[in-house]
Amino acid sequence: MGFKHILLDPVDAGIMCLTINRPKVLNALNKATLEEINQAIDQLEVDNNTRLLLITGAGEKAFVAGADIEEMSQLSALEAKAFSAFGLSVLRRLENASFPVIGLVNGFALGGGCELAMSCDLILASDNAKFGQPEINLGITPGFGGSQRLTRLVGRPMALELLYTGRIFGVEEALGFGLINYVYPQAQLMEKGLEMSREIVSKSRSSIQLIKQLVQRGQDLPLDNACIMESDQFGLSFSSPDQAEGMAAFLEKRAPHFN
Ligand code: CAA
Repeated sequence: MGFKHILLDPVDAGIMCLTINRPKVLNALNKATLEEINQAIDQLEVDNNTRLLLITGAGEKAFVAGADIEEMSQLSALEAKAFSAFGLSVLRRLENASFPVIGLVNGFALGGGCELAMSCDLILASDNAKFGQPEINLGITPGFGGSQRLTRLVGRPMALELLYTGRIFGVEEALGFGLINYVYPQAQLMEKGLEMSREIVSKSRSSIQLIKQLVQRGQDLPLDNACIMESDQFGLSFSSPDQAEGMAAFLEKRAPHFN
C-alpha cells in the first residue's frame, strides 16, 4: 500500500521500520498520519514474516514533535475528543501488537511524540533526543495517553512536575527516570536498534509473544491475577516446539535453533 505520511520498509529479516515522514513539520501527527500508522499495523499483523517493528522519525531533528497543532487549532471539543480517542487506540495497538516494538527516538519527542515513544516496548534514543509533554503551554491536556503512561513510567511526583511545567528534558534525565533504555550517538542509532532487534528475533517467537502479553496486560491487574496469568502462559509455553528445542539444546549442550 502506498503511504503519504509514513514509510514502511523491511530493514532486515523479520524486522520492519515505520518512519513518520513529515520532516517539514518535525513529523507532527495529523489525523491522516495516525490513519496510516493504523493501516500499517493492520498490514504487519497479517504478515507472518513480521517479527519486530522499529519506529523512528524522518530527518535528524525530530522523532515526532507532537500532534499537529495547526490541524488541532481548528477542532471543536467533540472533534478533539474523537482525535484523542483515535490516537489512543492506535498507540494501544502498538502496545498490544503481536510483535515487539522499539522506538528509535532521533530528536524531539514531545506531546504526542513522547506518547508514541512511551507506547513502544523499548526506547533507544540518540544523544540529541528531547522529551516532554508541553501541552500545558497550549492550554490543553495530553491526549494520547501522556498523563497515564508518563505517570506509570516515572512515578506520580515527577510526572506531575513534567505535566504541570511542560519542561523539555534530555536523555540524561530520561535515563534517570527509567523512561528510555539506552542512548547512542545519532549516527549509530539505527545500527544499534538493528543490533538489538536481531538479538530479539533470534529468540523464541512464541515466548516473546507470551512475554509481551504478560507484561502489557499484567501491569494493570492485581498481582494475584497477574501471577495466575503467568502460570497459564508458562503452561502454554510448554505446548510450543520452541520449548522442546530450547530444553533439548540445553541438555545436549548446544545452542537452540528456534523456527
Ligand atoms: N504541529 C505542527 N507543526 C509543528 C509542530 C507540531 N507539533 N512542531 C513543529 N512544527 C512545525 C513548525 O510550525 C515549523 O513550521 P514552519 O517551518 O512552517 O514554521 C516547523 O515544524 C519547524 O519547527 P520550529 O521552527 O518551531 O523549530 P524549532 O527548532 O525552532 O523548535 C520545537 C522545535 C521546540 C520542537 C518547536 O517546534 C515546538 O515547540 N513544537 C511544538 C511542540 C509541542 O507543543 N508539542 C505538543 C503538541 S500537542 C499534543 O501533542 C497533544 C497530544 O498529546 C495528542
